[in-house]
Amino acid sequence: MRPVQISPSILAADFARLAEEATRVEGAADWLHVDVMDNHFVPNLTLGLPVVAALLQSTATPVDCHLMIEDPDRWAPGYAEAGAGSVTFHLEAAAAPVRLARTLRAAGARAGLALKPATAVESCLDLLPELDLLLLMTVEPGFGGQVFLDVVLPKIRRAKRAIGDLDVWLQVDGGVAAATIERCAEAGADVFVAGSAVYGAADPAAAIASLRAAAEGARAAEGAQEAGEAGEAGEAGEAGEAGEAQEARGAQRGQEAQEARDQR
Ligand code: DX5
Ligand code: ZN
Repeated sequence: MRPVQISPSILAADFARLAEEATRVEGAADWLHVDVMDNHFVPNLTLGLPVVAALLQSTATPVDCHLMIEDPDRWAPGYAEAGAGSVTFHLEAAAAPVRLARTLRAAGARAGLALKPATAVESCLDLLPELDLLLLMTVEPGFGGQVFLDVVLPKIRRAKRAIGDLDVWLQVDGGVAAATIERCAEAGADVFVAGSAVYGAADPAAAIASLRAAAEGARAAEGAQEAGEAGEAGEAGEAGEAGEAQEARGAQRGQEAQEARDQR
């Protein structure tokens, strides 16, 4: 099982003190999630490559760029070249997602593909071997602090099944907090983006630790339940087979008895 990873989103941090805000989660966070919005793909405008490049110089935490922009084919490679550890673009915006994923990997970044809540995961299953990360948005992209969309949970489960043994991380983003992270973990997510739940807390590093513990706990419980069900199914299957064999023997005996009666 892949480890639980927490990627705090600086969208909920103080934009006037980004370097300091990055330091507050250093050592606790696996990634620093940076939401790039262009006011075209989403109705909000945040920051771009010059700010990300500056941030990369100010933090030791690997940067996970989530590009909510039009024409990622043109703009995404710059983030990988600047040193972002992971660059995620939206399927809905990309003209040539396979080519773009390959370009990102060639530039040394992990290649991520993001889907809005209404985009079916089935639309990108054939692309999975080209990817290092699949991001399933659990809110409509554009703003922090929105309500988690439970409607995405079955999609997370289907994505997890489709990923199987491939080395593709399954990331969720939007409304991920103490009250929702367990549902995401049970469904199969392994990288959790959290903005308000981390930077809205008095102690962001402690918030990360408790989110991680909740996700790990939920996964362990889910694993135990799955193992239990598999065990029960095995027993039930054996019992079913035994029952069928008994019925068949019973039927045969009944037939033999009938034949014996007929002969008399
Ligand atoms: C939303 C962004 C998220 C956002 C999440 O479009 O992609 O990364 O920061 O914020 P919360 O965790 O507050 O929902
Ligand atoms: Zn994001």
